Amino acid sequence: MIDVVVKPAVIEEGHHVVDAGCGVGGTAIRLASAHGCRVTGVNLNRLQLEIAEKKVVDAGVAGRVKLKYADCCQSLPFADNTIDVVVNIESACHYSDRERFLGEVQRILKPGGKIVAMDWMARDHLSTEQYDQFIRPVCESWAMVSLECQATYTSKLQAAGLEIMGFEGFGGKEMDNLKIIENDYRNLTLMYFSGFGTPPFLNLMESIGRLYAAWRGGYFEIRRYCAKK
Ligand SMILES: C[S@@+](CC[C@H](N)C(=O)[O-])C[C@H]1O[C@@H](n2cnc3c(N)ncnc32)[C@H](O)[C@@H]1O
Repeated sequence: MIDVVVKPAVIEEGHHVVDAGCGVGGTAIRLASAHGCRVTGVNLNRLQLEIAEKKVVDAGVAGRVKLKYADCCQSLPFADNTIDVVVNIESACHYSDRERFLGEVQRILKPGGKIVAMDWMARDHLSTEQYDQFIRPVCESWAMVSLECQATYTSKLQAAGLEIMGFEGFGGKEMDNLKIIENDYRNLTLMYFSGFGTPPFLNLMESIGRLYAAWRGGYFEIRRYCAKK
């Protein structure tokens, strides 16, 4: 999946890639081993960074993968014009200040450098009622302040001085994400009726249910964009 997502950025051996919001290091490890690039993963979750450190060593890519603590809504710990590619997978949806993040991306990218991102988004042109009914509950369940849509991302990328190369949906054939969520929801329902009823379980079921409702109704989607400095 990672290889498919990052394709438009054309990552090459020798590139310095920043994985913004790197989770437990899966993307950084894959990029370093499959593309031969250097990767610096940044995250504000120290526990995830500790897990990532161990995974990087186990994967034998410690020479090419570094991990740093940083808040992507503050300043990114890289000098101006030094980074070839920023990868940002399912992370910016959790940020409170995406303008600031994109401004930082513009600052650290080399001229011609690219950001490739896959993010949770609302569909364009939702009414306030549709947003409140379908998107706001998803945000509440999944620790997000708000969701962008393609139109708002377009203006924020342009305001940051980044040239948009394209947007694409990612819920379709390649990933079949909606089917995965559908299966999750079906399995959770079966488990619920077999006697699972603990509060964390119900919480998870509600979160998946909200996502499923928004997605199935066409109010939510996962989209990728690529933009160039
Ligand atoms: C849903 S996870 C995705 C992780 C990873 N990109 C992946 O695809 O597996 C979101 C990640 O973004 C990180 N994150 C959220 N807000 C952040 C911020 N302001 N600065 C840095 N990282 C952040 C979280 O800690 C988490 O690792």
